[in-house]
Amino acid sequence: MDFELKSLSTAQAAQLPVDALLVLVPDTTPTVKSADQALTRLVAQAVELKDLESGVAKLLVCYRPEGFKASRVTLVRVGDGSAASVRKAVAAGMGSLKQPGIQKLGVVFSLIETTDDCVRAAMQACADATYCYTTTKPSAKARTIKQVVVGVAKAGDVQRGFEVGKAQVVGVEFAKEWANRPANHATPTMLGEAARKLGRKPGMKTDVLGPKQVEALGMGSFLSVARGSVEPLRFIVMHYNGGAKDSAPVVLVGKGITFDTGGISIKPAADMDEMKFDMGGAASVLGTFAALAELKPAINVVGLIPSCENMPDGQAVKPGDVVTSMSGQTIEILNTDAEGRLILCDALTYAARFKPRSVVDIATLTGACVIALGGVRSGLFSARDDLAQALASAGEKSLDLCWRLPLDDEYAEGLKSNFADMGNVAGRAGGAITAAKFLQKFANELPWAHLDIAGTAWKSGAAKGSTGRPVPLLLQYLLDQAEVPAKAAQPVKPKTQRSAKA
Ligand code: BES
Ligand code: MN
Ligand code: ZN
Repeated sequence: MDFELKSLSTAQAAQLPVDALLVLVPDTTPTVKSADQALTRLVAQAVELKDLESGVAKLLVCYRPEGFKASRVTLVRVGDGSAASVRKAVAAGMGSLKQPGIQKLGVVFSLIETTDDCVRAAMQACADATYCYTTTKPSAKARTIKQVVVGVAKAGDVQRGFEVGKAQVVGVEFAKEWANRPANHATPTMLGEAARKLGRKPGMKTDVLGPKQVEALGMGSFLSVARGSVEPLRFIVMHYNGGAKDSAPVVLVGKGITFDTGGISIKPAADMDEMKFDMGGAASVLGTFAALAELKPAINVVGLIPSCENMPDGQAVKPGDVVTSMSGQTIEILNTDAEGRLILCDALTYAARFKPRSVVDIATLTGACVIALGGVRSGLFSARDDLAQALASAGEKSLDLCWRLPLDDEYAEGLKSNFADMGNVAGRAGGAITAAKFLQKFANELPWAHLDIAGTAWKSGAAKGSTGRPVPLLLQYLLDQAEVPAKAAQPVKPKTQRSAKA
C-alpha cells in the first residue's frame, strides 16, 4: 500500500483527484465559515439534517456529492479525536469503501486537529481494512485500494507520525504474511530464509544456525522439542546496527514454533490448525526488523528466533524425560505441550552474550493468558518496573495494548521437581504466570520482560488470521529507546515483585 502525505485545506480536499474520500469529522461540528465550500457545506448540512450523528464511527456515505472530484465521499465522526477514536472511525469508514472501482483513496484530516499518533493510527486502520492474504489462495482478491493520500492541514506537523506509520504498516504486514502461512509454507528453514533476506538490507545482518551448531551451543532444551520433527530446527540471529558500535542492544526473542501439535502430550483435534500461528512471536520479530529497515533509527537491536515444529514421533521427547538446558539447569518435561518455554529458555541464555540493555521475549505461550486477558491486551511480565513501564507506555502510544501481570516467587512453587532442577509445568492455576516464572529462571540478572501474545497475535472465527501484533508496540519501544542515551546494561538482581502496577 502506497501512502502519500499532503497539506490540504478543506477546499483543496474536495478537489483531490481520488476515487473516494474519507472525511474525518469532529464531534464538535465545525461552524461553517465559508458556506460556499463543498466540504464544509456538505458536513454542515449532514449534521443539521441529523444524517450524520455524533459519536465515534457514526458515518454517512455520499455518492457524487456536488463540488467534489471524488465520486464517493464518506463522512465519519472521530469523537474526541484521540488516536484510538480515529482508528475506530477509519476502520468503520473503510467498511463503506469496498467497491472494486476504488483504487486511490483520500483520508481527510483537514477538519480535525491532527497528531502524529492519529495519522499513524489512521494509516494502520487503512492497511488492516484492505489487507488480504493471497500466498496460498490464488483465488483471493488482492487489495484494490493501492494508494492512500493522507490530507492534513499542515503536513510538516505530522511528518514523523507519517514516516513511523509507513514503517509500522510494512512491519505489521510482514508479520501477518508469515504468521498466516500454513506450517508447510512456513517451516523453520523458510523462516530462516526470510530472515536472511531481511539481513541483506543496509545495517542488517542475519546468521542462521542449524541442529549441529545448536547442539554445540549446548541448547539441550531447544533440541529436545525439535526431536519429533523431520523438519530441521533453525536458530535465527539477526542484527540491526543503527546505533553507535558500543551501544548496548535491545534483544528481541521470538517463539518460532511453526506448528504445535503438543508433541506426545498431544492436543485435541479441534482448532489444531490454529497452532500454525505458534510462530507469531517470531513473525513479530521479523516484522519489527522489516520496520527498522524502513525507519533506520539510531539503535542496535538483536533478534533471536528459536524455530522448530513440536511433533509426536518415535524419536520425540517423552513426558518425564529430563533435559539439560544451555544454562546448565536441568528440566523435567512433564508436558511436551509446554514447549514454547523450552525453546525460549535457551535463547534467553544465549541473549546474555550481547550484554543487552534489555531483553524482551514475545511468545504465543499460554492458553491461560487467553483466558486472563482475551484478545485485547497482551500479557506483560517483568521484574523491572522501568522496563515494564516503558513497554506498557509504548503499547498505549501505538494502540497495541498490554497489561502487567505479577511475578511473585510463590508462583514458582509448582515448578519444583524431584528429578530435575525444575519441571516445565505447574498445574492449571495461574498458568500464564507460572510460564513466565519458568522463563525468569533463565533470564537471571538480565533486564528482561516477557510478552504473552497467545490472545492477541491472531483472531479466530470468520476473521481467522494474524493481527501482526505486537509489531506496533515493539517498534514504538525501540524508537523510544533510540531517544534514550544508550547506557550499558547494569546487572541488578531483580527484586521480587510484590504488586503489579499497570
Ligand atoms: N502454543 C500453546 C499456547 C496457546 C494455546 C496459544 C492456545 C494460543 C492458544 C502452548 O505451546 C501450549 O500448548 N501451552 C499449554 C501449556 C500447558 C501444557 C501448561 C497451554 O496453554 O495449554
Ligand atoms: Mn504447546
Ligand atoms: Zn506452543
